[in-house]
Amino acid sequence: MTLPNLLGSIIKIAMANYPDERLQWPAPERNKSFILEVLRDVLLETILDGSLVLEIGSGSGAHICHFASQLQNFRWQPSDPEDRHQKSIKAWIKHVKTKNILPPIYLDTREEPWPIKKADAILCINMIHISPWKSCQSLFSGASRILPRDGVIYLYGPFSVDGIHTADSNAIFDRSLKSRNSEWGVRDLNGVRQVAENNSFRMTKKIYMPANNLSLVFNSVR
Ligand SMILES: C[S@@+](CC[C@H](N)C(=O)[O-])C[C@H]1O[C@@H](n2cnc3c(N)ncnc32)[C@H](O)[C@@H]1O
Repeated sequence: MTLPNLLGSIIKIAMANYPDERLQWPAPERNKSFILEVLRDVLLETILDGSLVLEIGSGSGAHICHFASQLQNFRWQPSDPEDRHQKSIKAWIKHVKTKNILPPIYLDTREEPWPIKKADAILCINMIHISPWKSCQSLFSGASRILPRDGVIYLYGPFSVDGIHTADSNAIFDRSLKSRNSEWGVRDLNGVRQVAENNSFRMTKKIYMPANNLSLVFNSVR
């Protein structure tokens, strides 16, 4: 990249920042409307009005604020273990002024007990590959303790199938994740499904999403 291009990019990034503590990430902006359409179908057909939807690894908070403002018949609980992310989630909630979002809670799937005793559905978007495998295992074991029978887990992200990446871009992404942290990496669909089954969840939907991602839906069969 030439110096003027580099400076241009830096200026663009600086200008894109919000004046409050909201973090602005490109990925949620790109995928939020595609995810919302899947959630609309999945949640409306599975849970009742007034149900509580817990998001794990809410990150910036941009996703949950978008979903909550579009699906006002549910209550939404954001969570994240990182302080900076919790501040951003609070700022996003203040910004959208939607009444059906609760304040964010600290939740790391690996730390038992979870600070929430009951939810009707759980969302986890782009988390399990950017965290050790234990985070995925504890996501399902923790979820099995707080979801009712038929309760939903929605996962979104890149997955390999039978150990094979579904696109070159996912293979490159996998290598870059592993170079940042050897415990991270694109997860295999069969491994995730096995963890789900070990915790009495059945995979009920696999939906192909843009940019070689998948939406996976699991229901509790306890
Ligand atoms: C790549 S970000 C994705 C954030 C958001 N879901 C999105 O799609 O924009 C991954 C998030 O997962 C959170 N996270 C990582 N490991 C976690 C764990 N074990 N339990 C809960 N959250 C975790 C991180 O703090 C981070 O906010």
